[in-house]
Amino acid sequence: MKLLITGGCGFMGSNFIRYAAAAYPTYEICNLDALTYAGNPENLRDMEHNARYMFVHGRIEDEEAVEKIFKEFKPDAVINYAAETHVDRSIMDPAAFLRTEVLGTYTLLEAVRRHGTARYIQISTDEVYGSIEHGTFSEDAPFLPNSPYSAAKAGGDHLCRAYWQTYHTPVIVTHSCNYYGPYHYPEKIIPLFITNLLEEKNIPLYGDGTHVREWIYTEDHCRAIDVLLHEGAIGEAYNIGTGYEIANIDLAKNILALLGKNEKMIEPVLDRPGHDWRYALNSSKLRSLGWKPRVSFDEGLSRTVEWFRTHEQWWKPLKSGTYLEYYHKQYTARTSAER
Ligand code: TYD
Repeated sequence: MKLLITGGCGFMGSNFIRYAAAAYPTYEICNLDALTYAGNPENLRDMEHNARYMFVHGRIEDEEAVEKIFKEFKPDAVINYAAETHVDRSIMDPAAFLRTEVLGTYTLLEAVRRHGTARYIQISTDEVYGSIEHGTFSEDAPFLPNSPYSAAKAGGDHLCRAYWQTYHTPVIVTHSCNYYGPYHYPEKIIPLFITNLLEEKNIPLYGDGTHVREWIYTEDHCRAIDVLLHEGAIGEAYNIGTGYEIANIDLAKNILALLGKNEKMIEPVLDRPGHDWRYALNSSKLRSLGWKPRVSFDEGLSRTVEWFRTHEQWWKPLKSGTYLEYYHKQYTARTSAER
C-alpha cells in the first residue's frame, strides 16, 4: 500500500510514520510537510535512510504540489495530519488555521476525488463538539466549536462530510481526545510543564486549573488510525478516546511528583479566553472494531517524562524560540496587572 501522510514532521504524523514503517515494512510512505514551526525534520531522522520513505516539502493547500504527488506517487490512502493545532496561537492569529484546516483539507479532498484515491482519513479533534459538563460526546453530537482552532477544524470536517454526501469521496473523520508522548511540541501543557520543570522554571496553570481533558498516549492513537485505515467504514466519523480524564491541576501535580518538584512551582495565570471546561468522548464505535487503549495514563506519563528527561537536545532549541517566551510573558504580565 502507498500512504500519503501530510504533516508527517509534526508530533502525531511522525509518530504514525515510524509506527506504520515498523508495522508494515512493505508499505511505501510519502510525507508532505510544510515545515512550519511545529514540523521538525529531527522527528524523523531515523527514517531518512528507509528506501520506502520519501519527504516532500510543501503545503497541503498548494494545489500544484499536491497534484504532483498524486500523479507521481499515486497514493492508495491519504492520512491528513497537517494542521495548525495550538488553541492559544489561534486566538492570536486565526488566519493560518483557516488556510491549513479549511483550504488545505479542500485541496486534498479535490485531489482524492480527481484521482479516485481509495481512502482519505481526516485527523481531527474532540474540540469541534465544544465543552461538555456531564457525560460524553458521540459522533452524532452537533459541532459547537469555541476557539478559532476548533472552528477551523470543524470547517475541514464539514467539508469531508459534504464530499462524502455529494461525491462519495471515501472519507473517514476521526475526533480524538488530547494526545501526548515523545516529540510533543513543548507549547502544549504536558511537554511544556515537563520541560519547564527540567529547566527549574514555574509552570503556568490557566485559571483555577479545574479544566478537564481526556488523554491518549500517542502509540494508542497510532493503533486506532491503523484500525481505521484497514477496517474503518467509509463515510463514517469515529471518536478516539480512552475514557481517562484528569483536571489540569491534578495533571500538574502528577508531573511535579514524577520530577520530584514542589507544588509551589505551579503559577496560576490568567485564563485562556473561551476556555473549554471539559472534553469527553464516547468511543464505543471504534472499540466495536476491536481497538482499545493499551497504555495507562500513569505508564504513558512516566514514559513521556523519561523521554523528555533524556532528549534535552531535541527540545532545548524549540524552547529557546521567541514565541513561547513572549507568549508566557504576556500571560504572566496580564495576570500580575489584574492582581
Ligand atoms: P493544550 O495542551 O493547549 O491543549 P488543548 O487546549 O487543545 O486541550 O491545553 C490543555 C489544557 O491545559 C487546557 O485546559 C489549557 C491548559 N493549559 C494550561 O493550564 N497552561 C498552559 O501553559 C497550557 C499550554 C495549557
